[in-house]
Amino acid sequence: MGTTLITGAYGQVGQELVPILTRRLGREKVVLADIASPPERFRDYPNHRLDVTDRATLEKVISEHGVDHIFHLAAILSASGEKNPARAFMTNAIGTHNILEAARELSVKKVMIPSTIGVFSRETPRRNVPVNTIMKPRTMYGITKVTGEMLGNYYFQKFGLDVRGVRFPGLISYSAPPGGGTTDYSVEMFHYAVRKEKYACYIDRNTVLPMMYMPDAMKAMMALFDADINRLRFHSDYNISAFSFSPLQLEEVIRKRVPGFTVTYAPDYRQEIASEWPETIDSSDAARDWGFRAEYDLDSMVDDMLMNLTKKER
Ligand code: SER
Repeated sequence: MGTTLITGAYGQVGQELVPILTRRLGREKVVLADIASPPERFRDYPNHRLDVTDRATLEKVISEHGVDHIFHLAAILSASGEKNPARAFMTNAIGTHNILEAARELSVKKVMIPSTIGVFSRETPRRNVPVNTIMKPRTMYGITKVTGEMLGNYYFQKFGLDVRGVRFPGLISYSAPPGGGTTDYSVEMFHYAVRKEKYACYIDRNTVLPMMYMPDAMKAMMALFDADINRLRFHSDYNISAFSFSPLQLEEVIRKRVPGFTVTYAPDYRQEIASEWPETIDSSDAARDWGFRAEYDLDSMVDDMLMNLTKKER
């Protein structure tokens, strides 16, 4: 594995990926790019302030470092995207096109572009959704992420560019906070629980969504990166999932460990987004083609989250 560029490196997923790639490559080969400035612990890495809509700067960064691989994580998530759809379109659609064009022109070997359950919609089956299904997303996030998936497949077929991606469910983690997603409530609930505060949830108590713990998400992304290309029947659109729960189910599992924890429910505009998404998705193609398997279930994820967040609070 050669020099690797991460866009959106200081986001929820980026901050987890940096140490994983550093262990493989050493820090001089992990190039960080983000629209924000680096947190203290990443200041020693080669890093660039980069807006992915700025193709000229993007190409300069790729050429300067002789980038072999790109993890394109820069994106505006579903809830933020509805506040500023024009910006979401630019970052998610134009930004992804810029990455693919730059990768093609500058002979990048492999590009990883995560997708999301946000590509699905009310027309999609509610349960056990296969990779190929009906997708008519109504959020700018969903629209641009379907576009990203299709562009990835297009660049593979037309130009032979190796583009790969998984559809992440809601991701739960304790290191870096999520920013602007509909599923962020699940992470927020833990923070309130360890501080012994009451949480006001903006999603209806019975809305079930597919979720995954971050270590499984990282393992999945790296397994797909490493997979033999000849075994891949899909490219930018592999379903992966671990478990599904509603806010009420999460509240109850947390309360078993944090007695007295309470949640109130006042759904806002994000409920409309969540209602479009399925309850469970079928990850058997990822399992078959590149050995995807999630280790954490709801209980072991909750135990690990509470242990780590309690340590952090001290
Ligand atoms: N976590 C994302 C969001 O809520 C879904 O991929 O926007």
